[in-house]
Amino acid sequence: MTVAAASTSVESPDGFHRGADGILRADGADLREVAARFGTPCYVYSRATLEQNCARALDAFSPAGVFYAVKANGNLSLLRILARMGAGFDVVSGGELARALAAGGRAERVVFSGVGKSRAEIEFALTADETGVGCINAESAAEVERIAEVASALGVRAKTALRVIPDVDAGTHRHLTTGLSGGKFGVPMSAALDLARRISALEVLDFAGLSCHLGSQIRDAKVFDAAAAKMAALAKTLEAAGMAARQVDMGGGFAAAYGADESPCDFSECARVLFSHFDSSRTRLLVEPGRSIVAAAGILLSRVEYVKSTGDGGSRVIVADAGMNDLLRPALYDARHRIVRVVEESGATTGGSGSGGEMLSLVAGPVCESADILGRVGGLEARAGDLLAVLDAGAYGMVMASNYNARCRPCEVLSESGEVRLIRRRETVEDMLGLERG
Ligand code: LLP
Repeated sequence: MTVAAASTSVESPDGFHRGADGILRADGADLREVAARFGTPCYVYSRATLEQNCARALDAFSPAGVFYAVKANGNLSLLRILARMGAGFDVVSGGELARALAAGGRAERVVFSGVGKSRAEIEFALTADETGVGCINAESAAEVERIAEVASALGVRAKTALRVIPDVDAGTHRHLTTGLSGGKFGVPMSAALDLARRISALEVLDFAGLSCHLGSQIRDAKVFDAAAAKMAALAKTLEAAGMAARQVDMGGGFAAAYGADESPCDFSECARVLFSHFDSSRTRLLVEPGRSIVAAAGILLSRVEYVKSTGDGGSRVIVADAGMNDLLRPALYDARHRIVRVVEESGATTGGSGSGGEMLSLVAGPVCESADILGRVGGLEARAGDLLAVLDAGAYGMVMASNYNARCRPCEVLSESGEVRLIRRRETVEDMLGLERG
């Protein structure tokens, strides 16, 4: 996300821009007005940024299929925009499949991944839209048998691919790496031949090919290069054994930029590297980007409740009304999100780096946990009542929000050329209590 400090073009600003008047806007909408109308904390999305990112992916990876990973952000309005643009969906639960369908996605344009699919989820996947999903990526020998049992009971044929572990180090946070041996996802490459044979031998299964996912927030296209080389070699081995992979799904993991000094993963470079390993007239390539589509398209809007000194003389605590229950990433992964003021007086520093000689502020949430720190920011001059924007919060933000401390999950709004609409209302205490008896 760019917070274009120098921008004066308030009339046609795509994404999140600070005008010459010092006000941060979302697709032209004044975030002060958004806060006044919808309250805080509140996720605000930029339709223009979402569409730009999706268009970039569709364009760069053509003719590969782009299957947006619903887990990154499953809001129905956002999914509907992506479906209309031509994206398919990667889902990991029956709930995500229901979201994809409710947003106008077609089941045959859905791939179903996930390490623990229940019988009911497989049944749903095989019957959704009558056609069933485009492919189930099986992650174990036992799952292959379960898919066959369910398909047989339903009298349908299940398009089934094998998720393998390429054993390539994604060079990312330990919680975000999935393509290494010893993890819980997929099957070792050494088991793939036997399992592909088993799938091919079962009448009710249709062997579709291979899938993998290396991890998240991968910056270096060489990681995709190394994995694609291994996947292509495996596909060749299977083909020699009479089991051609119609499709190879390389998963997601394309990095988003979380700092002004970072640049997002280059889709074109990744596409070039991936395509170089496959003959697209024979093997269809699939990708499942999540974060790279939605991260920069969202911010978390929050209001400062209190400012206090830490007592050690060097820093202060800015207590915001958004916490780890609204945005878990900083607490869970030490993730760094830039935090800026919505209104910046001219000449003031913007904050966001945490470096330099300025006073360090802990931007803390109201949750009773020491880990509830949204960020450590240098030079952030905030007073009670000020509005803050936590940037690049569109991916793995709202989807990981919880009711911890019995806090209501925030609302979500979408800005479309300056018009802002509510796309998920704020949760209420009644919503929370209504599920319980007692
Ligand atoms: N496909 C599969 C099978 C996945 O497991 C994932 C992410 C993706 C695609 C999408 O990856 P992306 O393009 O978004 O990197 N909560 C963490 C991220 C966990 C990602 C899990 N799998 C975070 O907030 O950083």
